[in-house]
Amino acid sequence: MESLAGRFATVTGGTRGIGRAIAERLLREGVAVAFCGRSGAAVSRAVEELEPLGRVFGMAADVTHPTAVRNFFQAVENAFGALDILVNNAGAAHFRKVGEMTGEDWHRHIDLNLNGPFHCTREALPRMIRRGGGSIINISSLAAKNAFSGGAAYNAAKAGLNAFSEALMLDHRHDNIRVTTVMPGSVETGFSGNPEKRAGDTSWMIAPEDIAEIVALVLKMPTRTMVSTVEVRPSRPRK
Ligand SMILES: NC(=O)c1ccc[n+]([C@@H]2O[C@H](COP(=O)([O-])OP(=O)(O)OC[C@H]3O[C@@H](n4cnc5c(N)ncnc54)[C@H](OP(=O)(O)O)[C@@H]3O)[C@@H](O)[C@H]2O)c1
Repeated sequence: MESLAGRFATVTGGTRGIGRAIAERLLREGVAVAFCGRSGAAVSRAVEELEPLGRVFGMAADVTHPTAVRNFFQAVENAFGALDILVNNAGAAHFRKVGEMTGEDWHRHIDLNLNGPFHCTREALPRMIRRGGGSIINISSLAAKNAFSGGAAYNAAKAGLNAFSEALMLDHRHDNIRVTTVMPGSVETGFSGNPEKRAGDTSWMIAPEDIAEIVALVLKMPTRTMVSTVEVRPSRPRK
């Protein structure tokens, strides 16, 4: 396995949940980690909490706004001078049947779960190619392949992300860019997706740290090998 020490990573949505666990895991590997979230207060708090683990940079930025994304990546470049790893993690879902969905609901899902990763990837690619390569991890969902009632906007956005991720991999593998799509099932976070599932006993759910462990393993694979897709499920989902 390759060492990640001395690498530079950017994680979107790093203030809590899966993104936060990935940031922590990478810091423990000796990676310098930049992250964003929309809430400036949450970013400042996370920077303070993560600083003891290593080199951290945080900034409030909304991944759905191309100008904010450009400014964020420029600020990361000013702080770190390099980018080796991008984790497109920021995402959310608010479930509604199609007949009850507004155009705004639809666009919000596509903007966050699909357009956001596109904007961030466009910023990351030239920087990685200049360095001779890099890794992009797209945090998708099993909802990308398993549609369910109320999930149309999220299902479609994550299915789009899977397709984007695969084409991106084919476009840039010869630039030494490795692209991995991670598709978790239910993860124990405050994810806006399905509050019902988060009521009561949640011990059956995947822990965010488990996803972070998988991301670290994928990144540490010898550079000759690319893990292109990972499906992750709770071993024993609630019946
Ligand atoms: N939890 C699950 O069961 C599960 C399952 C499969 C896939 N996933 C995927 O895993 C990813 C992380 O989910 P999670 O459960 O960890 O969610 P979470 O706990 O709600 O955390 C989401 C993170 O993203 C940030 N964020 C949200 N919208 C943003 C935006 N427009 N721009 C920048 N940052 C933004 C949030 O901070 P702010 O709110 O301050 O912006 C927060 O840091 C998502 O892509 C989700 O679809 C989750």
